[in-house]
Amino acid sequence: MNELIEKLKKQFDEKLAEVSDENSLEKLRLDFLSKKGQISGLMKELAKVPNEKKKEYGQMINTFKQELTEQFDARREELLKKQEELLIRMTESYDESLPTGNPCGSYHPITLVQRELEDIFESMGFNVEDYNEIVDDYHCFEALNIPKFHPARDMQDTYYLTTPNQLLKSHTSAAQNAILKKYGPALKESGRPIRAVFPGRCFRNEAIDASHENTFFQMEGIMVDKDISVSNLIYFMKTMLSEVFGREVTVRLRPGFFPFVEPGFELDIKCLICGGSGCSSCKNSGWLELCPCGMIHPNVLKYGGINTEEDPYEYTGFAFGLGLTRLAMMKYGVGDIRAFNSGDLNVLSQFVSR
Ligand code: DAH
Repeated sequence: MNELIEKLKKQFDEKLAEVSDENSLEKLRLDFLSKKGQISGLMKELAKVPNEKKKEYGQMINTFKQELTEQFDARREELLKKQEELLIRMTESYDESLPTGNPCGSYHPITLVQRELEDIFESMGFNVEDYNEIVDDYHCFEALNIPKFHPARDMQDTYYLTTPNQLLKSHTSAAQNAILKKYGPALKESGRPIRAVFPGRCFRNEAIDASHENTFFQMEGIMVDKDISVSNLIYFMKTMLSEVFGREVTVRLRPGFFPFVEPGFELDIKCLICGGSGCSSCKNSGWLELCPCGMIHPNVLKYGGINTEEDPYEYTGFAFGLGLTRLAMMKYGVGDIRAFNSGDLNVLSQFVSR
C-alpha cells in the first residue's frame, strides 16, 4: 500500500506542477479526487487487504487524500489570484498624466441673483410665486389696464402661439391678477397683507444687441394692504437694494408711465461706481435706472377682486418690476446681455454667490 501511495503522490505532484489554467486543474481533480478518481481506486484496493491491516491502511489513505486536497486547494487559490491580477492589469490601464477630479458645475448668474433676491424678500415676509410662461391676452394686458389697441402694447410686442389667445408673457406683471386673486381672500378675511414676488422668464420681439434680448428675466413684486403708500414702496426698495449691493444705496423716484400703476415711477440708485459725481457707467448722470414701480392702479385692484366699484381705494398697494437680467449685468459687470443665453462656459462658470 505504501508503495502505491508513494507512486500516486509522485504522479500527483508532477501533474500539479504542470497545471496552468482552470481546465488542467479540473482534469487533475477528476483524475485524483473525484468519485471515480485514483484515491477512490485506492479505497477499492483496501478490500483486498487483510482485515488486521484495514484500519491502518484506511487511515493512511485518508491522510493522503487530505494532503492532496490541501495541495490542490492551494494551487487553485494561486491560479485564481494570478487570473485576477491579469484581469486588473488588462482593464485598469489608464493614463496617469490625465487631469483628475470632475469639473464642478456652477449656477447661472441670473439664478444667483434670483435666489439672492428671493432670500431677501422672504426675510421681509414676501411669498415667492411661480407663474406660467404661456399666458393669455387678458392676464398679460387687459387685467393690467392695457385694453386692446392701447399704444402701451407697442413696447411689449411678443410671440403669439398658433393656439388662439395664447402668448409668451412679455413681463412678469402678467401674474399680478392671479396673485391678487390667490391672496385676496386672506387679506379680507384675516387682514393678512399680500406680499409676493414672482420671478420669471419673459419674451419680447426685440432686435437683439448688446443690451436687448428676446428672452430675459424679471422679478415682479407686489404688496397690498390698507394704507399702503409710496413711503412703503421706497422703504422696501431701498432695503432690498442695499442688501443686493452689500452697502447703503440712495434711491430717487422719477415719474414714469405704466398703465397698471398710478402714480408710476422709475426708481434710480445713486451710481455705486462714482458715488454720484458722474462716470461712464452712469453716463455722467450720477444715477442708474434700476426698476420701474408705482402704486397699483385702482382698475388692476378691481380686476383682481380686491376693491369694489363703490370703494376703489379701500385697499392700496405698490408694485415693482425688477429686471433680473439687467441687475445681474450690473452686479457682475457683464457688458453684453447676449452672454447670458450664449451657453459659453468661459463666461457663465465664473460667478459665485457671495
Ligand atoms: N412690467 C413692466 C415692463 O416690463 C415693468 C413694471 C413697471 C412693473 C411698473 C411694475 C411696475 O410692477 O409697477 O415694462
